[in-house]
Amino acid sequence: MNDVMKAPGVRAGLAEAGEQRLGWIRSRMRSLAAIRTEFAESRPFDGLTIGVALHSEPKTAVLLETLAAGGAHVVGTGNHGSTQDDIVAALERNGIELFGHRDETLDEHRRNLERTIDRKPDILLDNGADLAAIVADRGLADTIVGGTEETTSGGFRLREEYAGRIPFPVIVINDSPLKAIAENRHAVGQSAVESFMRITNLQVPGRRFAVAGYGWCGRGVAQYLRALGGKVAVVEVDELKAFEAAFDGYRVGSLGELAGWADVVITATGRPGVVTEKVFDLFEDGVVLANIGHFPWEIDVPALRSHAVRSTTVATAIEELELPSGRRVVLLADGRMYNLAGTAPKGNSIESMDLGFTLQARSLERVATGTDSLVAGPQRVPDDIERAVARQTLALLNSAD
Ligand code: NAI
Repeated sequence: MNDVMKAPGVRAGLAEAGEQRLGWIRSRMRSLAAIRTEFAESRPFDGLTIGVALHSEPKTAVLLETLAAGGAHVVGTGNHGSTQDDIVAALERNGIELFGHRDETLDEHRRNLERTIDRKPDILLDNGADLAAIVADRGLADTIVGGTEETTSGGFRLREEYAGRIPFPVIVINDSPLKAIAENRHAVGQSAVESFMRITNLQVPGRRFAVAGYGWCGRGVAQYLRALGGKVAVVEVDELKAFEAAFDGYRVGSLGELAGWADVVITATGRPGVVTEKVFDLFEDGVVLANIGHFPWEIDVPALRSHAVRSTTVATAIEELELPSGRRVVLLADGRMYNLAGTAPKGNSIESMDLGFTLQARSLERVATGTDSLVAGPQRVPDDIERAVARQTLALLNSAD
């Protein structure tokens, strides 16, 4: 945070602005509102510190307030590049301590993750397995009661890179079919299209999109682009998903085959090295590259930049790179999740996050009060929680009629 932002007057102004924005979001997160009232009575987190690494933005803020209402001391940081300073300032007033700021460098962000662990959390609320990785690497895993993991990519890390090194239970929220349907498919689909239009101001109808990955997110991105008149093709390494995409009516091919056809390439795989230098010279002039996956590694941005002869920032979150052939490649949001970039509003719909964070709150409650029913390492959201949240969501949907 710069010195100007730390000045008391500026800080108070930021907190006011944050509180004003939070009011609207809070009022639309009806499921979390009900849990907050319940937690204020049951106090499942009394005496516990929850260490957080989750985007510091208004919807997350409502989850953190809910946990604090249940007695938790909440301390942590956001994800790199998505921290909203007014929200951090507003939460600070309620005793929730979040490190980091909008313009922090990657090194600062890494230090903030370390600082979170230095506060000796009992429970981790993780995104991308960043905190779990630190406790495992620093030999602190035995001090953790349990935790949750928000993302697909974090689930991959826990099951692959950190397999056998996490002795505490981690409920992987992303494995929830409810979350996958509501957020990864429909909300990411909606925000991917909306963010493309908002950041680039380009039209979707008639434009040719190649979507890499036909998992939950990719299916939603393809579905909503087509709904708005986009021509959509799919790149998928799993033959069953490729088969499904073909039967859903999409053109299916390798990126090499589709590179010269696509006006826009959107990656949604959660895996590194999807768009690499092998295909840079196959693109048509003006192709737009954008990533929706959690880590900024699906498009090989360092290779693209070193291949380019010129790079120009032409608008917020839009970089134009000129290749030696004279063709231009347009990169959105530095290859980071572009649906969280650009000017507000950002991210997935309030209702989808209300549902995902309800699963978070219930899972963290289970970690705090019923670890005996959980096993060590990554696991799905317990079935009774899934079903209870499904019933509650259906009741809320019906009550709005
Ligand atoms: P998923 O596992 O359902 O789908 C990924 C798909 O990509 C799989 O079908 C896989 O076979 C395919 N794939 C893997 N490598 C590939 C390659 N090299 N080329 C083509 N296809 C490939 O995962 P899900 O839930 O769709 O998540 C994808 C990513 O999106 C993850 O990183 C996740 O964390 C992230 N995510 C982003 C959100 C956002 O708001 N931006 C919200 C939710 C998830």
